[in-house]
Parts: sequence; structure tokens; C-alpha cells
Amino acid sequence: MIVAILGTILLHENVDHETGEVTRIGNLPFIFGAILIGTIVGYIAAMRVKMTAMPQMVSMFNGMGGACAALIAMVEMNTHHPQEFGHRFIIFLSLMIGTVSFAGSMVAFGKLEGKIKDYGSKVQQITNNTIVFAILGLIIGVSLIPAWGDFFIWIVFAASLIYGILFVLPIGGADMPVVISLLNSFTGIAAALGGFLYDNQVMLTGGILVGSAGTILTVLMCKAMNRSLWNVISGAFSATGPSSKSMEGMSISEISVTDTAIMCAYAQRIVIVPGYGLAVAQAQHTCHEFEKALEAKGVEVNFAIHPVAGRMPGHMNVLLAEADVPYEKLKEMDEINPQLPNTDVVIVIGANDVVNPAAETDPSSPIYGMPIIKANTAKNIIVMKRSMAKGYAGIENELFYDKKTRMLFGDAKVTLEKLIAELRNV
Ligand code: TAP
Repeated sequence: MIVAILGTILLHENVDHETGEVTRIGNLPFIFGAILIGTIVGYIAAMRVKMTAMPQMVSMFNGMGGACAALIAMVEMNTHHPQEFGHRFIIFLSLMIGTVSFAGSMVAFGKLEGKIKDYGSKVQQITNNTIVFAILGLIIGVSLIPAWGDFFIWIVFAASLIYGILFVLPIGGADMPVVISLLNSFTGIAAALGGFLYDNQVMLTGGILVGSAGTILTVLMCKAMNRSLWNVISGAFSATGPSSKSMEGMSISEISVTDTAIMCAYAQRIVIVPGYGLAVAQAQHTCHEFEKALEAKGVEVNFAIHPVAGRMPGHMNVLLAEADVPYEKLKEMDEINPQLPNTDVVIVIGANDVVNPAAETDPSSPIYGMPIIKANTAKNIIVMKRSMAKGYAGIENELFYDKKTRMLFGDAKVTLEKLIAELRNV
């Protein structure tokens, strides 16, 4: 990227076709000054960010990419006033996609920070669809008829801003990963359109890479979450509203560290379900130690990995790989779910939404339809978390009240350390 940036700034030549005069890029102090400021801000932000706050940062950076693509489109339109359909179409499309990505990413950032609440209504889907088609119609119109003037660029910009906000606003907790990945691919596509505009192969290649990788990831996430891509784009996710299910009158059973250690030591098969809490507690290494301690007792241990466990795609894979957990022990949902009824103990460590049976049983739940790790089908379930607090989707979890479930309260790392010590005594 450094080579691409320096090459573009220092080697680009502008040849005047009439006079043959060659000019190079000017304003170098401004360009390098801006690069310096951006580098310092980006470096400090990336060094300081906590692993658990990565999605917010990814959203913020992604939004900046979208804003860049939108700005390029505006500058191009206002300085060169292109007349051909193709040129104008690419500029307006790049403006639309870049702006939607910017506005959507900012709302996603606010949501991940917990500063913006979900807001959606039944008419939202219709409104969103109407706005998308109106913008696309307008883009085709202004691309075909240059006489409509450059003024329309502001209308496309404003409408895209509104659409970007409206389309992310209703998206409920558990579906955020899909939207983040989609916004990421939007930014890539907008950058690729910029590459077309400037006939710049590096920008085109970079944009296509981000756009296609983001699109593949989005499709995979949609599949994993059992959602359709069109539903994401039209903001249809939150239409169900919060779950009406209340756990009032139901009771939970607790278990001590000693009893857990005994239960685990005498089990034949154990499956660990890691979640966001494992990352918060930074307990991945301790978790691996726990796994080894169990294996030393002759227990077969596997990990059940949900595609949206944690706060970023592949979060659990990365976390456990960091702790050197053998990759073949990480089992995807499709592989592990059929094995769970034959599993003696499922240990849920800091996971909540990804094991919530409401996804299968409660049509009013915002996570209804999302495939889950069916921890409730195992012979015994131990849930390690600090309290009865809800997960990311903000809903109750019936699993905690299941007759087969025992709650082991405490910070995941501290509890795992105690469990390892107890296992030595069993
Ligand atoms: P969550 O449903 O968010 O639940 C995490 C649980 O961890 C909480 O209930 C919390 O309960 C517990 N916890 C927090 N700190 C802990 C600690 N130090 N020790 C022990 N437990 C701790 O997590 P999940 O099951 O992994 O599901 C992920 C959710 O995030 C899904 O809804 C998903 O859609 C969403 N999301 C995912 C992504 C990606 S791409 N993966 C991105 C954005 C959003 P206590 O407070 O009681 O301890």
C-alpha cells in the first residue's frame, strides 16, 4: 500500500493533449501533512484498542473508506463536469455506495458502542426499499441527462445518507455482524468504482479485493444466520421486536467449582462452547490449560464454534488459535450439533446468544431463525458467566433455567484457574 500511495503521488503525470505539457501532482506538503496526521491517529487508535472493541474500530475505519469514495466522486463531478453516461453513472454510483457505507458504518459504530438503540417499525422496510429504488432511478436519470445539472449530486448524497442511517438503525443485536460485513464490501465496491474513474489499476484491484471478500463473507454470514441478503439490505431484520418471553417464576441451579471439577473428571466427552465472555476475560490460554487438564484425566474435549460468537467474524478461532488449541478440535455447528446428545457435559464459557434456544422456539425473538449450538441437547450443561446479565441481543436465555443446566458464576479466567486447581485434586 505504501508503494501504491508513493507511486501515485510521485510518479503520476498529467499530459495536456493540446500543448503536450506534462504536470505532476502538486500540493505535496498538504498531501504528506494529511497522511502524517492520519497515520498518527490510526496508529494510536489501533495500538490502544482492546480486542473486544475491534468491531467498533473496524466500523469506524470502514466508514472513513466510504467517506473517501464519496468525496472523490463529488470532487470529480464538480471539477470535470463529465458529460458521458458511463462516466457520470460511475461517479453517482460511487457517491451513493460510499455515502451509504459511511452513514451506515457510523450508526453501526454507535450501536456497537451501546450509544444508539435499535429503532425500527413495520413501515421501515417499505421506506427503505422506496429510497433505494428512488436513488437508483435518480442516478440513471442524471447520468442520462447531463442537463439536469450537477446539483443532483447533493440530492443523491442526502438521500444516500438518509438510507445509510435508516438501513442500519433497525438491525437487531445478533444480526450486526452481517451488516458490518456488508458495509465493508460496499466500501470496497465504492473504491473499485473510484479505480474505474481514475483508470487506476491499484485502486481498482484493492477495491475489488475488499468488495469481493466482503461480499463472500456477507453471503456466508447470511447463510450462518439463516437470513436472506435482501432482508439485510431492506432492513427487515428487526420487524419482530424484542422477545416477549419472561423468565419470571423460573429458577436456576448453581454448582460449585469442586462439584464441576468432579463432574468433568468423570465425564467421557466434553464440549466447550466459547463466547464473547471468554474474550473479555482473556481466558483463552487458561481455557487451553483446562482442556489439557481434562485430557490428562482421559476426557475427550472439543470446542463448538459458532460463526458469530464473540464480536467479529472468526473471533473464537483467532482467540483459541492464539492459545495454541489444535485446530482440529474446533468444530463448526453442523459437525458438533449431532454429537451433543452423546456429550456428557457441555461447558458454556462466556457465551449466551449463540446457545439461546429461543432462536428455535420463540418466533417473537429477535434472534429467531438463527442457527444455534444446541447445548440444551447435551446430558449436562454448565454455564460459566459472572451474573444473569443478558448477551449482545439483550434477551433472556431459557437455557440457564433448563433442568440439566448448572450455573457456575464468576469471571471466566478466575473460575477456569480454580477448576484447573481442583481437577488436580480429583
Ligand atoms: P453474548 O451473547 O454477547 O454473551 C456474552 C456473555 O459473556 C454475557 O452474557 C456475559 O454475561 C458473559 N461475560 C462477559 N464478561 C465475562 C467474563 N469476564 N467472564 C465470564 N463471562 C463473561 O456472546 P456470544 O454468545 O458470543 O454471542 C455473540 C453475540 O454478539 C451475538 O448476538 C452476535 O450476533 C453478536 N455480534 C457478533 C459479532 C461477530 S462478527 N462475531 C459482531 C457484533 C455482534 P455476564 O455479564 O453475566 O458475565
